[in-house]
Amino acid sequence: MYGPCSVANLVKGDIKYWCTCGLSKTQPWCDGSHKGTGFKPLKWTVSKSQTRFQICACKYTKDPPYCDATHTNVPCNILEQQQSCDRKQLHIQDCKLCTSCRWVPDF
Ligand code: FES
Repeated sequence: MYGPCSVANLVKGDIKYWCTCGLSKTQPWCDGSHKGTGFKPLKWTVSKSQTRFQICACKYTKDPPYCDATHTNVPCNILEQQQSCDRKQLHIQDCKLCTSCRWVPDF
């Protein structure tokens, strides 16, 4: 997803598991879909109560789990990473999700 998820009404002390793999059906939070990919969710403890958070959904933020607007360049970045991936030859054989470039099979 090339934009943030707007999440409402989190309270200081809430614990969330931010999906790092991008496969979750309950974005931006982990639903266990990462199993077998090598990715693990990021445990995030909400540091302050706030009515709205912008949580990264592209998974390329440099300030997880917050959106830092990296998504604006994601399509170009993804293509460059996938074209130069050192695991490119293995994508079709054994990947559910490439841990190097995030390539996902087109089922
Ligand atoms: S489903 Fe993506 S990290 Fe768990």
